[in-house]
Amino acid sequence: MLNYFKIFSRTCGFKPHQNSLAQCFRALSSSSSKYSQGAPVTPVPEITEKYPHLKTHKDIYDFSLENPSEFWGEIAKSYLQWMEPFHTVSNCDLPNGKISWFEGGKLNASVNCVDRHMRSIPDQTALIWERDEPGTEQRITYRQLYDQVGRLASALLQHGVRRGDRVAIYMPTSPAAAVAMLACARIGAVHSVVFAGFSAQALASRVLDAGAETIITSDQAVRGGKVIELKRIVDDAVRECPSVKRVFVATRTGAEVPRSGIDIPMEEAMEAAPAECEPAAMDAEDFLYMLYTSGSTGKPKGLVHSVAGYLLYCMFTQKQVFDLRPGDVFGCVADIGWITGHSHVVYGPLATGGTAIMFESTPVYPDPGRYWEMVQRLRPTHFYGAPTALRLLLKHGDSWVTKYDRSSLRVLGCVGEPLNHEAWQWYNDVVGDKRCSVIDTWWQTETGGVCLAPRPSAEGAEIRPGMPMRPMYGIEPVLLDEKNNEISGEDVMGALCLKRPWPGMARTIYGSHQRYVETYLKPMPGYYFTGDGAHRHPGGYYQITGRMDDVINVTGHRLGTAEVEDVMDEYEPVAETAVVGFPHELKGEGLYAFIIMKNDVTVTDQEVKDTLKGLIRNNIAGYAVPDHMLIVPGLPKTRSGKIMRRILRKIAANQPDDLGDISTLQDPSIVEQIVQLHRQQVQ
Ligand code: WT7
Repeated sequence: MLNYFKIFSRTCGFKPHQNSLAQCFRALSSSSSKYSQGAPVTPVPEITEKYPHLKTHKDIYDFSLENPSEFWGEIAKSYLQWMEPFHTVSNCDLPNGKISWFEGGKLNASVNCVDRHMRSIPDQTALIWERDEPGTEQRITYRQLYDQVGRLASALLQHGVRRGDRVAIYMPTSPAAAVAMLACARIGAVHSVVFAGFSAQALASRVLDAGAETIITSDQAVRGGKVIELKRIVDDAVRECPSVKRVFVATRTGAEVPRSGIDIPMEEAMEAAPAECEPAAMDAEDFLYMLYTSGSTGKPKGLVHSVAGYLLYCMFTQKQVFDLRPGDVFGCVADIGWITGHSHVVYGPLATGGTAIMFESTPVYPDPGRYWEMVQRLRPTHFYGAPTALRLLLKHGDSWVTKYDRSSLRVLGCVGEPLNHEAWQWYNDVVGDKRCSVIDTWWQTETGGVCLAPRPSAEGAEIRPGMPMRPMYGIEPVLLDEKNNEISGEDVMGALCLKRPWPGMARTIYGSHQRYVETYLKPMPGYYFTGDGAHRHPGGYYQITGRMDDVINVTGHRLGTAEVEDVMDEYEPVAETAVVGFPHELKGEGLYAFIIMKNDVTVTDQEVKDTLKGLIRNNIAGYAVPDHMLIVPGLPKTRSGKIMRRILRKIAANQPDDLGDISTLQDPSIVEQIVQLHRQQVQ
């Protein structure tokens, strides 16, 4: 039924009938010897075969910036399987918020991730589910994945889900969740995966914002030996979401869980539905999915990714940044609730015809050797994790690592926050035995894929600790000063912006394109503003210095301080709050809440703190609960009433002697009072 696809103009040296990228890679590895010194670690034959004068990594990078249409056009033609060819590679007008790639093209993401590999490598393992209980992993081949995606897609249609509908997915990291994502993609529904650690309130607000009528969940989740009552949480959320018409419930543990009239047992529905489901022919710019992330206001943003541009950029970075080779097993331990799980557990590995691990557990369950015991057992070539986990593990000592065989590993990646020198060294020396490449990748939910990383680069090019270093092909990072002028030269710092559009960038914020334009495109007109500051080192290498807005990074999770403040302000006895981040040895950043009570309250300080913690846990998630809460008589405010967070940040960081000029405050004496309370209660 699938031979109506028009696969046109393959240019990377493989024949049209070779539909799998794994085969493509195999074809490439034999031809890589012809590259001269300075050639990229991972070749880009789609470009160099058509433009033979491009030889070095620098040649190709420069070409990608100067000729984006030629560059991305060739990559798109050979990486993606199209139902209809595109006629225009790029049609973007950044200052005005218009981003459009591959116009005229039609394709389906599930076909690209599953069908083409099901035909060429049906028995290859697509997903290895590393379940919470060690040693109970399950493997699923491309043939099985095809069958399951088709059945669930058919079942979604049978139950009334339509193209363009939003579907919330609230599930543990598992093949069932990947199947749910791909089944949505197959029928053209827009999935919105909500991290299964979020509370019922957080789930409800995301379901409402998306106008989702369908939720896909599991009976329970199991993480670190603990059971989480997912279905119960979904029921709580649904009570506040009148729009929800159906809840598909997959089986994770098989325990008895509450039922409701709108439930549909997922496996039964799949059993009853046909495995063949015609894929929807999606326009390149149609929405593939949305994913919520925190911003500097209290309301999370539903970032929207496109079918063609996202999938292409995700695939291309999967291969180039991680030097992917045939037969590799990609071990990304991220949860599917975050962008890393979308791009490097599901879409990137599957679109490239690879094998991906899906990690359901925690780094310390049942003990701090979990990752490396898994590596010995599953033999991945790549391990991709978070700096916060590495910092935690290095504290437990080397023997948890060295007692396991890690010889399968070739590339060690990390993402989410800066990888400090100590953790970098440990990752490189102990985990990688000094023989793996350590790849610190910088990107965001908004960028869809990696934008800065040590690779791609020229063969043998150095990797420096503590920075993501080099831009990806097609990415032009610049630093801007306060007047929005580009800062040139080396050893300089500024606001990190990306100067030109790239296919993987988020297209909009669901329901508010204006907010998208105002957040990312208006602050520095003509540029995409990342929200991060960066330092450009000699050699042109980039290091991230941290967020420039009121967003903090707790254990690799992005959190808007306003989100936490909004929840606390709801509590009747509270008059006002201010939340700031402070450096935290393990978490990266910790949260510090300053709280002013109303005058006439009778509750004790301890009751207030306990209530607030519960509220934050229920409204957001456990990781949003502040490390410190300090009840203060006032906050440092300017005469216009603006809280001077700079001062609170200094106090939270235990640097009260370095507060700078406080004379412009309405009441400078309040600062000393806060410092005293901090010394007595926190320091
Ligand atoms: C923010 C994006 C992309 C997946 C994980 C996070 C910070 C990300 C790095 C890095 C320093 C980093 C930035 C960025 N960040 N990677 N390698 N070095 N900081 O996605 O939740 O969208 O957060 O994480 O501040 O803006 P996210």
